[in-house]
Amino acid sequence: MCGIFAYLNYLTPKSRHEVLDLLLNGLKRLEYRGYDSTGVAIDSPQANDIVMVKRCGKVKVLEDAIAEHFSGKEYDEPVMTHVGIAHTRWATHGVPCETNSHPQRSDDENSFVVVHNGIVTNYKDVKTFLEKRGYIFESDTDTEVIAKLVHHLWKKHPGYSFRELVEQVIQQLEGAFAIAIKSKHFPGECVASRRGSPLLVGIKTKTRLSTDHIPILYGKDEKSPQTCEKDTEAPKTKVLPRTESTSEFMPLEEKEVEYFFASDASAVIEHTNRVIYLEDDDVAAVRDGTLSIHRLKKCLDDPHAREITTLKMEIQQIMKGNYDYFMLKEIFEQPESVVNTMRGRVRFDSKSIVLGGIKDFIPEIKRCRRLMLIGCGTSYHSAVATRQLLEELTELPVMVELASDFLDRNTPIFRDDVCFFISQSGETADSLMALRYCKQRGALIVGITNTVGSSICRESHCGVHINAGPEIGVASTKAYTSQFISLVMFALVMSEDRLSLQQRRLEIIQALYELPDRIRQVLKLDIQVQELAKDLFQHKSLLIMGRGYNFATCLEGALKVKELTYMHSEGIMAGELKHGPLALIDDRMPVMMIVLRDPVYIKCINALQQVTSRKGCPIIICEEGDEETKSYSSRSLEIPRTVDCLQGILTVIPMQLLSYHIAVLRGCDVDCPRNLAKSVTVE
Ligand code: M6R
Repeated sequence: MCGIFAYLNYLTPKSRHEVLDLLLNGLKRLEYRGYDSTGVAIDSPQANDIVMVKRCGKVKVLEDAIAEHFSGKEYDEPVMTHVGIAHTRWATHGVPCETNSHPQRSDDENSFVVVHNGIVTNYKDVKTFLEKRGYIFESDTDTEVIAKLVHHLWKKHPGYSFRELVEQVIQQLEGAFAIAIKSKHFPGECVASRRGSPLLVGIKTKTRLSTDHIPILYGKDEKSPQTCEKDTEAPKTKVLPRTESTSEFMPLEEKEVEYFFASDASAVIEHTNRVIYLEDDDVAAVRDGTLSIHRLKKCLDDPHAREITTLKMEIQQIMKGNYDYFMLKEIFEQPESVVNTMRGRVRFDSKSIVLGGIKDFIPEIKRCRRLMLIGCGTSYHSAVATRQLLEELTELPVMVELASDFLDRNTPIFRDDVCFFISQSGETADSLMALRYCKQRGALIVGITNTVGSSICRESHCGVHINAGPEIGVASTKAYTSQFISLVMFALVMSEDRLSLQQRRLEIIQALYELPDRIRQVLKLDIQVQELAKDLFQHKSLLIMGRGYNFATCLEGALKVKELTYMHSEGIMAGELKHGPLALIDDRMPVMMIVLRDPVYIKCINALQQVTSRKGCPIIICEEGDEETKSYSSRSLEIPRTVDCLQGILTVIPMQLLSYHIAVLRGCDVDCPRNLAKSVTVE
């Protein structure tokens, strides 16, 4: 998904080259989100002008273009105060090309330039309004209307501040956005806002920050008579109030300060760990080095201030280290990431589990009508993987839903439902929409996310932070295993006082204790998996079969193969084989089968026999030392034994490795697969 990075230095001298390096570095940190084109805008050394460079393709292409474009000595001279904005674009309106890349501009003179994430759904109305007033559009983007609308309002209201202009603009926009705007008419200023797309402000000062929060400045009552002339007849025909400072206005004033506006924390962590997560409809403005946050209207439960959060993330966590790709690093991090998910929650000595984020809600959850687990893609698969255990340990009906389908069906939701929203990013639009749908209907909302401060985190009543650490590769790996464990821990909490389930609980807790070592053992299969990838990478298709606790691995394995290698792959419920998929089997069709010694072992062996008797030659994932199962095929991967409900964590790792190696052999971009984004913030 698109990425915003903007940088403002106030009384901290930086050359334009340094600013450009900062912007490019910020964009590199956001690359993992997925994008197809890039761009930057900085102040020109020629007074009162803005220069932009945009390119289709990777940040490296932009970097080369910048090196060529900004070669003069004047770019080495320090400037005391400067604003630069940068963007990675994931095309939604208009093909990836330079003209459609961001920043988008208001006019030939680059009076106002804007970077934008999200979709302005009413852009056509705004465009028509502006075209009637003589604006000529050069791109196919929805974003261009933002730049031109600011310009239009600026001409109409020369007395308005930059922040006021942006406030007027956002009231005209429908849909989702995060924006950062710079203007040659307001040098040294940057204004940013969000609605539905994430945006944070990083603050770096030489000395310790003088405050840990920024008071919010609210606008005057909407009814207050403010002149907005007739321009606001359109596009939504609203009378717009201007906002004014109130007596509680105490913005952040630091002498020498640098500000960073970014779509996520990984882009700012190497500069500062002090950030403010903006909320929908916040307008953050920096002027004369002073940051203030404004809102037009105050609602009853609105807070008085935005807190400055200290990020716990370390820079090393977002570096590739010795790995060629983030995905590989993240796969190999799993022995540690699962420990981080359990840390402080699973008490192995007392065999007890405490989930601090939901502990107060457990009595309410125990009384619920049903549990609903909702997510997209990999997050949805973590729900499939743990459903059976949740049913067993909670003795409640458990529904598992894809967020998009759930919304399409207008699924009935009741006040006594408990709805879990599972999302690595916490920003997935489909999941967020489904969350709001359930919340409006009075259900209890539990967020299971990896991103502190994300929209799903903030909008949930309670939740579990999975603590997997930043996941940069577009393909989700360690987040999956940590989501899986979070849901297992929840099932254990729910069954704490069930006498009949104590033996089962102890068995699972012991297996959780042993899990990091078991994962390490599975990771040793890497060389063997790489050899299998050599057999498979030229094929067109790969079928992955299993059932019971391992069906989710089939779905997740197939998703990994599809998204990384662009090969067809399908996860098949082994019980369904004879109802159709068996027709696909012959001696050339690549098949993987998961056959473990669990309650469905005999059924899996039946499926295996059905495949081999049609000349199929499956690669079998089986338990270590299971010679009998291995004897059905010449190729197998042996994984260590664990309790049935955790097998899925061990069986998914060979699938993660296999998809990785096939992708490398096919020359695919492992961390940024084509057409995909890390965080899908559009519906
Ligand atoms: O951030 P989320 O977990 O909400 O994202 C949901 C899916 O977009 C995501 O899991 C996607 O399927 C992964 N790229 C798959 O590897």
